[in-house]
Amino acid sequence: MNINEALEALEREGMEALDALSRSEELPVWYRAFLGRKGRLTDVLRALGKLSTEERPAAGKKGNEVKIALENAFNDRQEAIREAELQAALSSDAVDVTLPGRPVKPGHLHLSTRTLRRVREIFGEMGFQVYEAPEVETDENNFELLNIPAYHPARDMWDTFWVDDQVVLRTHTSPGQIRCMRERHPEPIRVILPGKCYRYEQITPRSEHQFYQVEGLAVGHNIRLTDLIGTMQQFAEKMYGEGRQMRIRGSYFPFTEPSVEVDMDCMLCKGEGCRVCKHTGWLEVAGAGMVHPVVLRNGGYDPDEWSGFAFGMGVERPAMLQHGIEDIRYFYGNDLRFLRQF
Ligand code: FA5
Repeated sequence: MNINEALEALEREGMEALDALSRSEELPVWYRAFLGRKGRLTDVLRALGKLSTEERPAAGKKGNEVKIALENAFNDRQEAIREAELQAALSSDAVDVTLPGRPVKPGHLHLSTRTLRRVREIFGEMGFQVYEAPEVETDENNFELLNIPAYHPARDMWDTFWVDDQVVLRTHTSPGQIRCMRERHPEPIRVILPGKCYRYEQITPRSEHQFYQVEGLAVGHNIRLTDLIGTMQQFAEKMYGEGRQMRIRGSYFPFTEPSVEVDMDCMLCKGEGCRVCKHTGWLEVAGAGMVHPVVLRNGGYDPDEWSGFAFGMGVERPAMLQHGIEDIRYFYGNDLRFLRQF
């Protein structure tokens, strides 16, 4: 058999063998046998050296053509086999839509949200509307207009996260009082302002660096401290149930005069004393007081004609009291074992 015939036979056999392949593992075996370094094409082409110089170019050309034809056929076959295997895998792994689905565990509202909603409901029944104010505030609203100028030592009560030297993450919901008054004056006001507050402070069982507050603000004619106390009492009864003790004691806030602190009896220890109530039997739940004349004026109300009360209560602390939670850090620790209980 001369070289030409040997090359033609090789091409024919190579093509037939390629057609017979059906699995991708067989592809490299075929390649090594026909086109590999020690394969059959190499064998045949080795004989080129024995040809005369006249015969060699034509035989060399033929050898090249056979090589290209086999390579092209190999590539096509490889692609076809891989595609067939992919389709087979896809159809055998197909989803059985008749199987029952995995049950989806529905989530539920976070304890803070539920407490906030309850607080909103109770004040709603007392005629308070909800006013929303931003969490990122100006220094002016958070401090200055609430009668806390830059040099005032009361700033130390609210260590702050600064965004820049004029903007802060609000340390309390009280700046919303200014926004509300400026928007509503000269109308009377009865609103609550719920929202997140931030403080750069040490985290303890009773203090977080982020927490909710609900601010309350009532502005009108002849509003008195007794109105504030009555409102707080009615709230406490609805929130904590009858028979719980509330205590009002004198305090100081630059934006209220007089100022008070509202404490509830600590039901965690039933008055025995614990870490949360700092062993006093009482837990401070809100700061409050009569709106300071300077603040009324900053809000657009004449303090000779108008008066008002304001309060700012925590949300997590009342929830701790209600549910016997001993550490505020559970609220935002993202531990489902805690969250699922409520
Ligand atoms: C204030 O923030 C005043 N703005 C409240 C106020 C409003 C007074 C209107 C007068 C008129 P104080 O820092 O005490 O006050 O916070 C009020 C309540 O927020 C506290 O009683 C407590 O329940 C809650 N609170 C304060 N700091 C934290 C904290 N780090 N973690 C959790 N709750 C807190």
